[in-house]
Amino acid sequence: MSKKDQQLEKIKTDILQQKICPELAVSATQLVFGDGSAEADLVFIGEAPGKNEDEQGLPFVGAAGKFLNEMLELIGLKRTDVYITNIVKYRPPENRDPYPDEKAAFLPFLRLQLDVIKPKIVVTLGRHSMECFLPGLQISKSHGQPKRYKGQVYLPLFHPAAALYNGSMRQTLIDDFMKIPRILVKT
Ligand code: URA
Repeated sequence: MSKKDQQLEKIKTDILQQKICPELAVSATQLVFGDGSAEADLVFIGEAPGKNEDEQGLPFVGAAGKFLNEMLELIGLKRTDVYITNIVKYRPPENRDPYPDEKAAFLPFLRLQLDVIKPKIVVTLGRHSMECFLPGLQISKSHGQPKRYKGQVYLPLFHPAAALYNGSMRQTLIDDFMKIPRILVKT
């Protein structure tokens, strides 16, 4: 196991040992920590696990995940080339939106994950993920535009689950996604 993998494992253990969001932990099947390469240039951050993610213990493995995999393929990448995680790491009951205190409880651990991986670009998926890092922006205006904030480059994108069945949002997400290779080269 690489040093970075070990450091990520330590963060995962800390979440469990510190009993972060115990009510969510009880209602969920398991912690969904993250998936992919600790050496990745790109980290994708969603909102919280859904049913499939909760069952498999991996982020973005349901319909939204399939769409994300397809978009990665469009730019010549596989899941194993990138790192994928969520703000909140337990499935909220009935897929409700995570509460602000739940996002706040997990954010320090998400920041630690980013400190270990040190990606070139943090790609936020959806409004919740964007607001954690880029407060005050509107996703309808800022999607697809890279933003440098406190030394880190972010790319806010629409959430694949929101865009999946919405023709125009779906195309916008694909168009925004296709900008990633050029942004990577420039970063
Ligand atoms: N939606 C998310 O925000 N995260 C997942 O892991 C799956 C769906």
